Amino acid sequence: MDKSQEIDKKINLCNLGTAIKLLFTGYLSTILIGYLMALAQILMTHGMADGKFGLSLNDIVYSYYGNRSGSTLEQKLNGSMKDNASDAERFKLIQWVRDGASTETYAKEIQPIIQSRCVLCHNTNGNGIPDFSDYANLQKLTEANQGITYQSLTRVSHIHLFGISFIFMFVGLIFSLSTGVPKTLKYSAIIMPYLFLVLDIASWWLTKLNPNFALLIILGGTGLAIAFAYMWTISMYQMWFMEAILKHPDRRSAVFRD
Ligand code: HEC
Repeated sequence: MDKSQEIDKKINLCNLGTAIKLLFTGYLSTILIGYLMALAQILMTHGMADGKFGLSLNDIVYSYYGNRSGSTLEQKLNGSMKDNASDAERFKLIQWVRDGASTETYAKEIQPIIQSRCVLCHNTNGNGIPDFSDYANLQKLTEANQGITYQSLTRVSHIHLFGISFIFMFVGLIFSLSTGVPKTLKYSAIIMPYLFLVLDIASWWLTKLNPNFALLIILGGTGLAIAFAYMWTISMYQMWFMEAILKHPDRRSAVFRD
């Protein structure tokens, strides 16, 4: 390469030195693994919220809004525990739960049923199933599932806002050194993650208040993933494969207006 060509070189992903390419590649690779782990984590926690594997709209509603139609006790008495008591006893239990699970009614009418029908399995050596000889364990299952608490919502919101902004600062900075990407596409890919991040987190709060917003959470998450996949692929391609395919150095500047 002669001197004039050397001066011609402009700052872009393709022309970066190997040291900085390795630095960027190391970062992009570990962030990708982190992203996949985050997806696995979502599948294993939120994905199981409705008892079935795989992420569904119901999972999101259960995680954020909760399942306020009934308590676990009522759901079980109509489900897998149905055969353990007579219909009259089950109705009595369900009515008690719906009326607010008062301790007075418990002592008078409920405890005898629990004692005769449930405690033979739900006892101190119940092997992981709640012990109903202790009232507190039963009481916990009479409350409707209210979804995520405002306290946890605040905690995960601030962690995600700080953490994900940082991730996209660097992913975007690397991608901004790409060349030949149409301007509108480049600008949108860089700004999209921030818009979708705010949308995603705002929709957690909205879904906590109203389950109809659950779809917005999926939309926000999908938008983030698309922007990430796009910037990741273009950056890796331009650093390691583009010059070999173009068969000449890239003379476009990614930093200054050409
Ligand atoms: C023959 C044993 C047996 C009897 C009797 C029994 N249960 Fe259960 N119960 C289980 C087992 C096993 C599980 C865990 C599996 C499941 O959830 O279906 C369970 C789970 C439950 C759960 C869910 C607990 C949780 O943390 O999710 C509730 C609520 C429950 N039982 C209520 C009752 C009530 C009320 C009675 C009495 C009317 C009763 N059970 C009688 C065996 C029993």
